[in-house]
This record gives sequence, C-alpha cells and structure tokens, in this order.
Amino acid sequence: MSLAKYIDTLSTEIASIEESGTAKGHERVVTAFIPPAEKKGPRFLLEGFGDKQFIRMNSNSYLGLSVHPKLIKAEEEAAKKYGVGPGAVRFISGTYKPHAELERKLAAFHHREDCLLTSSAYTSVLGVIVTLCTPETIIISDELNHNCIINAMKLARPKDRKVYRHVNMADFEHKIVESIGQCETILVVTDGVFSMRGVFAPLLTICELAEKYNDMFLRGIVVIVDDSHGVGALGKTGRGTEEITQAKGVDIIVATLGKAFGVNGGYVCSSKEVIRYLRERNQFYIFTNPITQGEAAAGVAAIDILDSSEGRDLLMHLHSMTVFFRNGLIALGYETLASPHPVVPLLVRETEKTAKLVAYLFDHGVLATGLNYPIVPKGDQLIRFQVNASHTLHDLETVLGVLATFKRQHWSK
Ligand SMILES: Cc1ncc(COP(=O)(O)O)c(C=O)c1O
Repeated sequence: MSLAKYIDTLSTEIASIEESGTAKGHERVVTAFIPPAEKKGPRFLLEGFGDKQFIRMNSNSYLGLSVHPKLIKAEEEAAKKYGVGPGAVRFISGTYKPHAELERKLAAFHHREDCLLTSSAYTSVLGVIVTLCTPETIIISDELNHNCIINAMKLARPKDRKVYRHVNMADFEHKIVESIGQCETILVVTDGVFSMRGVFAPLLTICELAEKYNDMFLRGIVVIVDDSHGVGALGKTGRGTEEITQAKGVDIIVATLGKAFGVNGGYVCSSKEVIRYLRERNQFYIFTNPITQGEAAAGVAAIDILDSSEGRDLLMHLHSMTVFFRNGLIALGYETLASPHPVVPLLVRETEKTAKLVAYLFDHGVLATGLNYPIVPKGDQLIRFQVNASHTLHDLETVLGVLATFKRQHWSK
C-alpha cells in the first residue's frame, strides 16, 4: 500500500512546525568527548563541525558523573558479569543483583522504605499516577508541571483534574477545598524543580496544606513529587527539593537516574506497601524491560560518590559555579530568575530573538537550549543554561564573554 497520501499530510504538518520557528530540527551528533585539561572543563566535538570544540551548557549531568571513571568501571564490570541486557522483564527473570542493590540504595538515600526502578522517570510518573488513580480520585497539578505529568493525567481516568496556577498556594488550597465531598482521594502532583526555569516548588507549604485537609477525604491526600532535576543538584547532600525546602510529608518521590546521577532510568521511592502495589499493578513496570545491569551498577556507584566527601565537594563547586554564572548574566543586564538551581534561564521573551542568540552561541562554541512556545508559554521564551560540576571558572567566563559581545553587537542598538 502506498504511503503517499499519508506522507502528504505529515509533510504539511512538518512545514507548519518549521514555519512557526519551533522545530527542533536535525539532532546534532556528538562524535567525541575531550576530557578536562588545565583551566578548561570538558569539550565536545559534533558531526559536521570538524575540530571545533564546544562547551556544553545544556547537559543534565549536573555533577559531571556520566563520564566518571568509577561509574564507567562499575558498568563495564557488571556487563562482563551479567551481560549487557536483562533479557526479560523484572518479574520473569530480568532482576539482577545490581537492580536489587540499587533499589535498596535509593530507598535508603531518600529515607524511604522501598524503591521501584523503572526504565525512565517519564514511565515512573505514568506508572504511579495511572496505577494509583481510581474513578473516585481527583488529581491536582501545577500548571507548569513536566510533560510526563500532563500525559499521565490524560491517561489516568480520575473523577476530575484540577490545575492550579504555577506555585500559587492560594489557588492550590482553593482546588483542595472545592474537592471536599467530591472524591475519596486527592493525588497532588508537582515537579520538585521546574526544569524550564530552575525554580523549585514550595514543598513545605504543599505538604502542610495536604496534611491540613487530609482527614476531609475518605482515603486522604497523597503528595507525589517528581524531583528529576532536584535530586543531586539541590541541597548540601543532594537530596533535592525536599532537602532545600525541609518538607516533611512527601508520600511518593519520583526521580531520574539520567540527570545528576549521570546514568539512565527512573525510580519511585515510598512506603513498602505503595511499592509492593506498584510492582503488582503498574503496567509501565510489569510489561517492559528494566534498565541494564550495567546501568544499575553505575547508579550504585553514583550514589556512593554523592554520599562521599567527593560528592559534597562536587555539590559545593556546582553551587558556586551556578552563583557565578547567574550573577554574570545579571551583571551583563540580561534577565534571569533567582534560584540556587543550576538551570539558569536567560529570559528573552521572543521566539526569533531566542533563536538568533542560540545560533550565535553555537557559532561561538557554546551549546545552550532555546525554549519556545509551546514548550514554554508565549512571552516566556528563554535560553536555558545548565551549569554542571565539571565546568570551570574559565568555561563560564568564556560563555559570559560570548554573551557580552552579542549584547553589545545586537541588543544595544
Ligand atoms: C520533571 C521531569 N520528569 C521526568 C523527566 C524525564 O526523565 P527521564 O529521561 O528519566 O524519563 C524530566 C526530564 O526532562 C523532567 O524534567
């Protein structure tokens, strides 16, 4: 059968995405990683750009662990011992020692009773929300929550879905109050760190309000936090948004192994009953392979590093580099947002201007991400810079230098 007619409609769609200026375009291919040398942090080579070296200001590997020798060694050794793929889903015969060990370590790391590994944080969120939701549940969510939460809410079949204004606690409380008498349970769900802007959720207040109204619902209020960008990036010990807000009462914590931990995969930490139930019922866990044995072993190594003096030093360096870069943007007269998080937004507020600055940075050897509508609301278009612990002062001065020249040449007129 010919696909011609179908391809016609797709081509029209693609053309309109390109016209709107929001196309992601061709994916750039990293061909080499150049290790840090002297004042310089790591550099990257890209396919089609020869020897031109790039500073990566758009990596989620906040602690630089993805290239850490201990993680690489752990992955290699596990692959030699157990093979490179699990060969089955967890409950059949796909559970290896590194999976079990990583679950134990993550539960202890988050001070929870148990942990469930999944293939990504995205599927963790889908699994938790879809599995725990009943027809007598109302889901309450922040309007800027990550796409995985938005899609989880669409897939779940709750009695109602309520979205409160971004981090607006009066609106959040109002959504709880208007749900009284309407359902048995509320699932409150929020990002820990909102990844577009590096701002974190007021978890302390969210937990206090959940506690205040808990008894008004037959099966209570359950607080779920996806702290994929917070864990390993915020707090003196890297425990993320919970640590920095001192929140008590997050019932279920979801996060990724693919950002600060430098590996790949996702997980859920909670009470042993919640995790047991998810192992029995979560379709996004039961019917799909886990991360590899090597990835799990590398995850174990990452936690060991984070909980050592090396980890504390990495967190301190990350924090001081973040402060330096954010202050640098402000000194140059760019608009940014206050937060201790290594996602440092440069608010441009126009799609075309954002694209122009991202292209200029690229031409000058800096990889940064332009975020346009519909990923962010219209008027909030921005460039997202991500500082990480392998950046040096020299790296960040170089990037700020490029931004200074751009501003002088293009925005001062
Ligand atoms: C809040 C949040 N959840 C989930 C994810 C996805 O993580 P993973 O790559 O592990 O699916 C991201 C990544 O951008 C995120 O920001």
